[in-house]
Amino acid sequence: MPPAPSRPAPSLPLPVTGRPPDLSPAGLARHFGLPDLPDRLAAVEERLAEAIGGDRSPLGPASQRVVSAGGKRLRPLLTVVAAATGDVFDDRVVDAAAAVELVQVGSLVHDDILDDAATRRGRPTINAVEGVNHAVLAGDYILARAAELAAGVSQEAARLIAVALGELCEGQVLEMQDEYDPGRTVDAHLASVRGKTAALFACACRLGAHCAGLDERTTEALGTYGQAFGMSFQVLDDVLDLIGDEERLGKPTGNDIASGVYTLPVISALQGPDGAELRQALAEADSPAAVDRAIDLVRRSGAIAEALATADRYADTARRAVAHLDQCTAGEGLARFPHTYATWALQTLIDPRHLDRPVAARD
Ligand code: IPE
Ligand code: IPE
Ligand code: MG
Ligand code: MG
Repeated sequence: MPPAPSRPAPSLPLPVTGRPPDLSPAGLARHFGLPDLPDRLAAVEERLAEAIGGDRSPLGPASQRVVSAGGKRLRPLLTVVAAATGDVFDDRVVDAAAAVELVQVGSLVHDDILDDAATRRGRPTINAVEGVNHAVLAGDYILARAAELAAGVSQEAARLIAVALGELCEGQVLEMQDEYDPGRTVDAHLASVRGKTAALFACACRLGAHCAGLDERTTEALGTYGQAFGMSFQVLDDVLDLIGDEERLGKPTGNDIASGVYTLPVISALQGPDGAELRQALAEADSPAAVDRAIDLVRRSGAIAEALATADRYADTARRAVAHLDQCTAGEGLARFPHTYATWALQTLIDPRHLDRPVAARD
């Protein structure tokens, strides 16, 4: 293994140390200037529990385990806050927010089958405990509950959910088609991310706008915002797969390279000076030692700092999309949020052992 290059701590495009922003319900209430935001989010939690129905369904217990484990609940938050830019909070907003979170959970249940992952949200996955067949059905069941909730909101809400789910599947299959391909391009990767992640963020924001009856221009702006936030979010998630802390993330790390999913830092490191060595390690990825070598090469390549700069640029695109909504505190909070989220994620989810050398910027 070559020695680590000795160089001073680089400056990174996003702060990775310091006191993280407070993303608790009370902290979010302050961020968005919405004192009753915790109550609104609690109403969404209640709706989620009702929708899954615990022991009433043979698929209830397994589904409930992953729904109730929480997660960050970012997408329903976006629905609630987007509606709040029009000063609206009602039952339809709660249903729409719960529906969008159920699409997230249902797709995670299926994603964990595809990735053969054993943990999610700090709990054992359905594929690991009840088995793959049960997980296929539980994922479908959760998505069906999402469709039912959305249909109760309006035909347009049901359409928005269906469109996002279709895009999600397309994004995921684009990723599968590129598996183990060291020639994967940045554009192909970003097209996949647009579908598999950004589409649901955009949908969450559009649903909020729809429930609040916002005009077309504002709805479009919020959709663009969600899309760019989703891109920033997935680039960060990909970075965290390389330098994150499994326990804090509540899911495995290192999985992307092992399963042949080459994300932005890998694609970029393949173009760097150690690209040939990385390519060789990737080709041997059925050996855990080669996976570790590949991950180490990516960490030392400077590509992680580059990916963080990309995440930051997307966060800025999101900010600009809604900058004109700054006459209300919710709109102003939305504009700042992708950057705040990125700061929180890096300050709370990185494995501290990776804080110096591995995130070094390329010389
Ligand atoms: C995980 O999303 C799937 C990705 C798009 C990376 P989150 O990181 O938002 O997962 P939860 O909802 O908080 O569990
Ligand atoms: C996101 O991609 C998957 C979905 C959009 C469902 P990942 O495969 O990176 O998500 P994690 O890392 O498993 O949460
Ligand atoms: Mg996954
Ligand atoms: Mg991931």
